[in-house]
Amino acid sequence: MPVISFANAKGGAGKTTAALLLATELAHQGFRVTVIDGDPQRWISQWFETSGHVRNIEVISEVTIASLQCHLREMGPRTDYFIIDLAGARDALVTTAIGLSDHVMIPVQGSAMDARGAAQILDLLSFLKEKANLDIAHSVVLTRVTSMVTTKALLMIKGLLAARGVHVLDTPIGERIAFKELFEIGGTLHTLDPAKVSNVDKAKENARAFAEEVMRLMPAKVIRTGAPRIFGFRRSAA
Ligand SMILES: Nc1ncnc2c1ncn2[C@@H]1O[C@H](COP(=O)(O)OP(=O)(O)OP(=O)(O)O)[C@@H](O)[C@H]1O
Ligand SMILES: [Mg+2]
Repeated sequence: MPVISFANAKGGAGKTTAALLLATELAHQGFRVTVIDGDPQRWISQWFETSGHVRNIEVISEVTIASLQCHLREMGPRTDYFIIDLAGARDALVTTAIGLSDHVMIPVQGSAMDARGAAQILDLLSFLKEKANLDIAHSVVLTRVTSMVTTKALLMIKGLLAARGVHVLDTPIGERIAFKELFEIGGTLHTLDPAKVSNVDKAKENARAFAEEVMRLMPAKVIRTGAPRIFGFRRSAA
């Protein structure tokens, strides 16, 4: 079962929103999703408490460096996708979670294109590759993209990142009220009332396209290879 983490050392890049959209869409499609809430601010845990039961989703809170691997092992047999939401930091928990991931999604705000937080995660991935021989797949996902950001501008951003060898998802996540409302109301895009929240259909379409692209990159049944990932370098990495 793939482990997908969302990381960007800069706060507010859209990690939690993108993680929740992916989790709820995969769950809607019938996959069993375990979300590991690695952010001490507990946004996803609060969303889960507001929502009550959400079919196919489990959320694990109060995660520590020591407990992370246990959660993955314990929930593994009941999980098709693990999604790890991380704090806007570059600390030991972020490093450990990234080291345990099959794919790291790095949300970057398409409009602001402040890529400094993303660059810190890319540096961390290079560090893991050099020092621990861990080559972890990763992609930038452009988020909070408004209609003001033209296709041409997006293509340019993609080109710039590609020149650095960074893969960028074809599907940007738009700036949508429905995505914000999920945290207020709870539930999923499929349970939001279209009479109360604008453009739910477009939001659903966007989330589905995003999840489908991720599924193409990470089919549910990957065969995990390699030795158990145990680290002795956490302190120097953080
Ligand atoms: N696609 C979007 N459309 C509308 N609002 C969004 C979108 N993505 C994020 N936001 C809003 O921007 C704010 C920050 O987003 P989010 O919490 O997802 O970022 P984050 O990277 O997880 O932040 P942190 O580093 O603090 O954990 C929130 O208020 C959220 O509702
Ligand atoms: Mg967050």
